Amino acid sequence: MMKLHKKLFLLALLALLPVGIMGNAAMAAGGKAKKLPHNHWHFKGLLGTYDKEAVQRGFQVYSEVCSNCHGVEQLSFRNLGQVGGPFYLDECPAGFPESLDCSNPNENPYVKQIAAEYKFQVTDGPDEAGDMFERPALTSDRIPGPYANDNQARSINNGALPPDLSLIISARHHGPDYVKSLLTGYKEAPETVNVAPGQYYNEYYPGDMSLLIKDEYRDEEGHILKTVDVPYGGVFAMVPPLFDGVVDYADEEIPETVDQYAADVVEFLAWAADPKLQQRKKLGMMSIIYLLILSGLLYLSYREIWSKEH
Ligand code: HEC
Repeated sequence: MMKLHKKLFLLALLALLPVGIMGNAAMAAGGKAKKLPHNHWHFKGLLGTYDKEAVQRGFQVYSEVCSNCHGVEQLSFRNLGQVGGPFYLDECPAGFPESLDCSNPNENPYVKQIAAEYKFQVTDGPDEAGDMFERPALTSDRIPGPYANDNQARSINNGALPPDLSLIISARHHGPDYVKSLLTGYKEAPETVNVAPGQYYNEYYPGDMSLLIKDEYRDEEGHILKTVDVPYGGVFAMVPPLFDGVVDYADEEIPETVDQYAADVVEFLAWAADPKLQQRKKLGMMSIIYLLILSGLLYLSYREIWSKEH
């Protein structure tokens, strides 16, 4: 028996070996992105919830800055006013008629105002003459993005397609830390590399900087000189979107820095990717408590029954 265990263990080890070797080889060839710094996020952990004010500020950063190039088209305006959403109201603020049900996102005055005044209008139609027309958004509309279609998006962005951000936090590995680092991780490219116009260097973008090392740092056969380090990260087509002071926050206490904007917009995008997280965690906790009580009861009845058997 013992022998079989040992053999199995050795086999498992052997199976893992090539993975280790290949992993290292891939890194040596391609360079790698810098290790992501770890942030504390409100919404992580068993009881984590979104910070409602941070999600509101994040929506402001999104709609003033990111929305110039990216859509969040999975979201409708009314989602902003749903339970757990950044503009959800239990009851109407003072001054609104009592007949109004502000917990209904379609009657929520903030959501209505955001939709009506949004920077992009909704294309609707055709009208009686057969033409499409633009109109202000309603709470039931999806949040309109900046482009009519992907081809238009590419032609405006030098051929690169800015992805829709609705699900980006789930779509990227370590989404919240990655997106925050990307937004704060722009740097002057090291002098050993060539960066084409319209491309920007970022230490956290998963690219391959070994391809961009200048000829003067290579030998005659094109191999990179031993003395030259391949820089972390990669280049991509997003111009650094944030700088200090670019968004004006109503709350004077909150710093208007790239770091703060990045954290807030990640909070918003995390909510957008998983708006039901809070309800799910609550349900999870309630199920755990229920199961604990049930196990306790079962244990007691088990003791009761067996005590009578003796
Ligand atoms: C001026 C246009 C522009 C603005 C403003 C902008 N982006 Fe981008 N973004 C792009 C483009 C273009 C790409 C695609 C780049 C590429 O694929 O080379 C991109 C890509 C991204 C990506 C994907 C990176 C990856 O891993 O593939 C994320 C995340 C992102 N942007 C987030 C944001 C956020 C958040 C904001 C607002 C703070 C923002 N962007 C503002 C143009 C923009």
